[in-house]
Formats: sequence, C-alpha cells, structure tokens
Amino acid sequence: MTVTTAATDRRICTPLPVLGRDVLVPLVTGGTVPYAALDYAASAPALQRVWDDIAAYAPYYGSVHRGAGYLSQLSTDLFEQSRDTVADFLGCRDGDQVIFTRSTTDSLNLLAAVVPAGTHVFVFETEHHASLLPWRTRDDVRVTVLSAPRTPEQAVAVLDVALHGAAKGPKLVCVTGASNVTGELWPVRELAAAAHRHGARIVLDAAQLAPHHPVDVAALDVDWVAFSGHKLYAPFGSGVLAGRADWLREAEPYLAGGGASRKVARRADGGVDVEWHTTAARHEAGSPNVIGVYAIASACKALTEAGFGELVDREQQLLARLRAGLAEVPEVRVLSLFGDDAPRVGVLSFVVSGWNSSHFAAALSAEYGIGVRDGLFCAHPLVRTLLGGESDDPGECGAPEAAPGERSLNAIRVSFGAGTPEEHIDRFLTAVRTLVREGARWSYRTEDGRCVPDRG
Ligand SMILES: Cc1ncc(COP(=O)(O)O)c(C=O)c1O
Repeated sequence: MTVTTAATDRRICTPLPVLGRDVLVPLVTGGTVPYAALDYAASAPALQRVWDDIAAYAPYYGSVHRGAGYLSQLSTDLFEQSRDTVADFLGCRDGDQVIFTRSTTDSLNLLAAVVPAGTHVFVFETEHHASLLPWRTRDDVRVTVLSAPRTPEQAVAVLDVALHGAAKGPKLVCVTGASNVTGELWPVRELAAAAHRHGARIVLDAAQLAPHHPVDVAALDVDWVAFSGHKLYAPFGSGVLAGRADWLREAEPYLAGGGASRKVARRADGGVDVEWHTTAARHEAGSPNVIGVYAIASACKALTEAGFGELVDREQQLLARLRAGLAEVPEVRVLSLFGDDAPRVGVLSFVVSGWNSSHFAAALSAEYGIGVRDGLFCAHPLVRTLLGGESDDPGECGAPEAAPGERSLNAIRVSFGAGTPEEHIDRFLTAVRTLVREGARWSYRTEDGRCVPDRG
C-alpha cells in the first residue's frame, strides 16, 4: 500500500510491521485510542519479524558453548551465526571482533575497561552520557572534553587541533553517529580521518545511527562501533561492540568467569592460574543471552532484506512532513546544533514557548495517546547548550505550568523509525497545534518528579 502526502507530494510506503501497533491506550478525557509510539530513540518496538524468529527458535532454546545436547549445539550455532550476521550488517573488516554486550552503555564501558593505560580520550561535550562518562572510571586514562561545535566542519577542526597538541601515546576519539537530541548526523568519516592522521583510534556510538542508517565500519574507517538491540527493533537485552581485536585481546577480561577462561588450574602455592580466551569470548563471560543476540541478528537481516535505502527514504519523507508541520507553529522552537540544513535521522527535540516541556509531553500522552519523551535525554550538557541554560539548571519536570515566555528547563523529543505509520506523525502535529491553540483540557501536577494528570 502506498499513499501520497500533501506536505511532500511524494509516496510514503508502508511501515515495517512492529509489535504494539494495535495497542489501545486510555485517554484521561475518556475512551481509548491506538497508541502512537513516537519515542523510538529511547526504545523502538520489536519488529514482528524479530518476534516471529524468536518465537520459532524458543522451543529449541538451549545453553550456548556449554552443552553436549542437540539443542545446546543448535543454540551455539545460532549464537555464532548471529555474530557473522552482525559483522556483515556492520561491514566489519577481516580480523574485527564482534562482542555481544548488554547495550551501548555496556559496550562503551567495556571499551573503556580495555584501552591501554595512559590512553588519552577525546570526546565532545555534546555526547550522550554513555559516550561521555565511561572513560572517567579509569584513573590511568586522561579525558579531554571538547566544546560543542556549531558545524560539522568545526567539529573536525576542533578535533584536529586537540589531537595535534596531544602528547605521544595511545589516543582514542569517541563520537556519536547521530545525535539522540537533534537527530543530526556527525561527520564520522571526516572525524575518523582526522583521528587516524594523528595516530588516534576512534569508536563510533551508533546507538541512534544504526537503526536509521546503514553503518559500514570499513567504509567509515572507524576502529570500533557500538549499538543497542533495543533501539534496533530487538528489545531482548543485547548490544554490540565490534571492531579491532588487538586492544580487546591484550586486556584483562571485562568480566572474569566461565566462558572467558580457556584453562584454569590450581597452583602448588594454593593460587589459581588462568588462561583467558583471545577471541570475543574473552569479554563474554557468563552464559550468553542467545535470545537477545539472535534478536539482533534477525533485526539486521530484516532491515537489510527490507532495503535499508528505501527505509531511509521513507523516514526522510516522514521527517520532512514533521518538520514542515512544526514550522507552521510559531510557538515551537526545534533544537539544532548544526542548523536547518544539516542531514539528520528521525529524532527531533523542541520546546514550546509558554509551556513547560514535561507538561506538554504529559498532555500529549494523557489527552492524545502519543508517547514522546521529555527531559534532558541523558545528554545534559548538549541540551543545556541548545536551550541556552545555566549549567546548574535542574532540568527536571518542575511546576507543570510555565509562565508564557518563560524559558523551558528541558525539552520534548519526538522520534520514529521503520515501524511508524504516517498517521502517527499527522496525529502528533494535530495534537501540537491544538495544545498550543487551545491549551490542555486537563489539569496536571508533579508527582515523584513526573508531570501527571490530576485525577482529583
Ligand atoms: C547516542 C546514544 N548513545 C548511547 C545510548 C545508550 O544506549 P543504552 O541505553 O541502550 O545503553 C543512547 C541511548 O539513548 C544514545 O541515544
């Protein structure tokens, strides 16, 4: 099925089937509506295909790397084949390792644990906290936080200067592919070239890029990439760190335990000698999450088979429709670091003058059945920069009512993807227009830091 949209006058094809598309949610004003999930950047709904693959496998579930039985063998094969599928999906080079983790946060903490002592890490202040903070856990690692650039070219220039002045020794740059606040794409290939020019390595935080855009490790020339299954339509508790094997092989295991150890022997002096694996298993101690890993592989296949290029086109059409609709509401200010023309994915944050963002988001949910996110999106320095705030702004929900013209201390984020029907974007735009024009129909109060409908 295809339809023509007025805003773009282009054909927007059918979304990929996802779970939850028929879920009805109650409205505070009475009745129910189908839920409009517009918070994909937090967690995307599972693809139907992923769910079907998991359901088909579930009866065959067995232990991985630790069982002689048929189902254990089958599950081990499935687990290892999933590694190959993810390596293909990411365009990994020969010799790259694909390590299964719990999430992007886990992947970047793993990398932080294995960088050589004395590594100098460079990271922009605009990063998600998962990219900004893990390096601080090491006393023997130096971190330089780079100021927010206002253009992609400036980002490359700032990094170039910082790396030029850095002392000899191992260096690592950590950068996001697509911002979880503005959706804007970062110049990853150019940043990788700058890093390598100065002998540094680079890790790509693809948490928001991978669900929206093909990621090619070899073509981008990044050393590692990290992403989460739950943002890639595979919400079963797995993530990925993929890339160069050397630092991973040389470091102590991230977790010590079974699976990571090849040989353990008691010494005569009473101690224990351990020989660790040098493969990905070194950092995958404990029983692996085969369901989560298979779900990621299934999502990778589903996106590839659907035609990632077409999914990108479709998302860009929805994004154009969303931006055109919001541009017609003068009270709405869309947040942007790189400006209107910057390429971006289906993630957009905004504030509405005269509204507290938490109040606005609460009304979208309670009165229209639309799920967005409000807050600082685990990227506090970036959102404060974009809002023009002070560094000690609490950024919390605060009082539900903001006086007209009062500056919002936080923002509203709308995000979508391959499963989003056009109708959700249209419903969202209608709701925004109505709320701005007519106000909320219900009263709200703050409870445990959240803005909630007042039920008397
Ligand atoms: C850009 C970015 N990086 C990292 C993360 C962390 O992902 P996770 O919570 O799955 O570890 C997120 C989550 O929102 C993100 O948007």
